[in-house]
Amino acid sequence: MAQLWGGRFQKATDEKVYAFNASIGFDQRLFHEDLRGSRAHVKMLAKQGILTEEERDQILVGLDGIEKDVEEGKLLITSQYEDVHSFVEANLIDRIGDVGKKLHTGRSRNDQVALDMRLFTRSRVEGTDGYLRELLITIQKIMKENTDTIMPGFTHLQKAQPVSLAHHMGAYFEMFKRDRLRMADIRERMNYCPLGSGALAGTTYPLDRNFTAEELGFDGPTANSMDGVSDRDYLIEYLSALSIIMMHLSRFSEEVILWNSNEYQFVEIDDAFSTGSSIMPQKKNPDIAELVRGKTGRVYGALMSLLTTMKGIPLAYNKDMQEDKEMSFDAMDTVDQCLDLFNGMLSTITFKKDRMRDSARHGFTNATDAADYLVKHGVPFRDAHGIVGQIVLYGIEEHKPIDDMSLEELHRFSPVFEEDIYTAISMETCVDTRNTVGAPGREAMADEIEKNELYLMHAPVLGQSM
Ligand code: ARG
Repeated sequence: MAQLWGGRFQKATDEKVYAFNASIGFDQRLFHEDLRGSRAHVKMLAKQGILTEEERDQILVGLDGIEKDVEEGKLLITSQYEDVHSFVEANLIDRIGDVGKKLHTGRSRNDQVALDMRLFTRSRVEGTDGYLRELLITIQKIMKENTDTIMPGFTHLQKAQPVSLAHHMGAYFEMFKRDRLRMADIRERMNYCPLGSGALAGTTYPLDRNFTAEELGFDGPTANSMDGVSDRDYLIEYLSALSIIMMHLSRFSEEVILWNSNEYQFVEIDDAFSTGSSIMPQKKNPDIAELVRGKTGRVYGALMSLLTTMKGIPLAYNKDMQEDKEMSFDAMDTVDQCLDLFNGMLSTITFKKDRMRDSARHGFTNATDAADYLVKHGVPFRDAHGIVGQIVLYGIEEHKPIDDMSLEELHRFSPVFEEDIYTAISMETCVDTRNTVGAPGREAMADEIEKNELYLMHAPVLGQSM
């Protein structure tokens, strides 16, 4: 057991207590952030005359050595240390002797861990933004290729009106675009440096908090030291945004699963992204989509966990906050992996365009357009609705789409129909004449795709030149 305290204790820590209290098992993921923070801190201490330049350099060399040895596997991060901060400090002292004991001047593990977690989260926010961007590029490609691919649009999971595959994909583009905007927003709000907050009340040393903030790429120091050590809002915001991403991915997965089923056959998932059954030789299962849908639960869990952990904590730091890590790490890893794999699956999926068009044609999805045709020829809408309702009933009995009925058949319901009804209710017309902003018509879709293109070209990529 190597711990940073003990002076006021007369007994050794109980072994079970030590293990229960320790966080090294999971906070070792903050190793690089911890070093980064220590380097900035030490540079600032020297700049302020609190350490000599020589002491600073010795410490920096020591920290570099620890990093190199850990990377090369020569030094192992083991449970002999309480947490990653103790690991670094103990090894520094082993390596460079007493001067290593000066590293922690004017610092507490409370502002140290607050900083490490913030640095780690900031880079993960940027990473998630990158995965989202890749997915948007795939969606945009599918949109460009499928402005003419007709499919049924659904409400209540019942065929409603024909749309294009581009239009359907465009809805997901909007969702993941908002997810990216949330990443940018979170990054901006969180980008303040807690280092220098001390345990809770700052320090008496003349620390230059602006210097360390700038050194670590922050927009400035956090404004209040008690908030600085105990704020985890940024992490809750990130987990909340990650939960929303999973909700989007889960809806999309649900559609892929439906579309890939024998009943729909709208898509075929690539062999590389499907799995088989150990007993049923014919099976090709959409496991990736199912897992993405399933993993949504653990990400929501991480959000609920941290919200609940934080809700009763009085100011400032309390050990409860150590619980901010494991489930958050799991959620971050899960979401990035899901985005990556979902993107792989989507970019290799085959759309069965004939099946989609056929499905739209056999669902009376042009009934609204048939009623509109009557309205344009002077029939009041409510009457037109009734007439087409009867036509649909007849079509269901005869297993016939409206556009396959002869004029004679249509005249049984209304004398108003003429030869031009067939163009008026063709799937292509139904889609292409809908050109209000955001609608599936060719012109409206061209505008939407153009806007997406501009967005992808100009939206800042988080972490690049920031
Ligand atoms: N392992 C702790 C955490 O993750 C580090 C901070 C400990 N501070 C303290 N005063 N015990 O929150």
